[in-house]
Amino acid sequence: MSIRSVESRCPLRVEEAKQLALLAGAVHSSSPMTTDEYRIVLFDDREELWDCRTRKHGMALSFRSVDRRVGAGNLSHKQPLGRAIGSKAQIIVDATAGFGHDASRLACMGWDVIGIERDHFLSVVLKLSLEDVARCDELQTLLSGRLSFLHGDATTVLNTLNPDVIYLDPMFTPRKKRSALPKKPAQILQALAKPSDDQNLLCVAQSVAPRVVVKRPIDGPSIVEPHLVFKGRLVRYDVYLNMNE
Ligand SMILES: C[S@@+](CC[C@H](N)C(=O)[O-])C[C@H]1O[C@@H](n2cnc3c(N)ncnc32)[C@H](O)[C@@H]1O
Repeated sequence: MSIRSVESRCPLRVEEAKQLALLAGAVHSSSPMTTDEYRIVLFDDREELWDCRTRKHGMALSFRSVDRRVGAGNLSHKQPLGRAIGSKAQIIVDATAGFGHDASRLACMGWDVIGIERDHFLSVVLKLSLEDVARCDELQTLLSGRLSFLHGDATTVLNTLNPDVIYLDPMFTPRKKRSALPKKPAQILQALAKPSDDQNLLCVAQSVAPRVVVKRPIDGPSIVEPHLVFKGRLVRYDVYLNMNE
């Protein structure tokens, strides 16, 4: 497994970095990074995720990258994601939260979203990204407290929730050609997260919610045959309906 660490580059946040390291199952460190190390770095005004290649150009731990321009269409309910979620939903559980990018997009689209993440390190990444919302007035207004995260295994946590829709984004299989490598956040997730038992997770999700939406690569296989499919340019959403509802 890759090494995970937390560092503070701000003297006032050293104690916080130590506490976060404990929470993340990581080490508190300020020594040079090793090649297979991932580090959460705290600055006085922001947090970043570094690996030894992105060092000094780390990934910002924030949801500010959600494309929320009026007219850009990313938050429109007419997009494949919005149509896959459906018009009746109020509460969505994103059972594979990862970096929370999809969860924050769904919350920006107006739904109440609870994300679940089982990896300790990623759960700390989500906590810091959510805390960053308070520093961005526009995002705070758009999200209006509609986004939260729980740490745990979704196959257990889902049974304690009562969502209208469960959203799943299982790990895409890494592409082989170097030129076709997935984008940086996806590469980091592939390095950090354990492979999931997608079939079991889908089965649990279907027993909990009337509608389950699974994000897939546009040409990737379905977990099992879906009831509905909504296609985008690069991804598609497989929808499973509970016919007994
Ligand atoms: C491909 S990533 C999701 C990326 C996410 N959609 C985003 O926008 O950043 C899949 C994530 O699901 C998490 N995961 C897989 N199985 C899980 C489970 N049973 N319970 C909770 N989290 C799970 C993994 O740890 C990983 O972080």
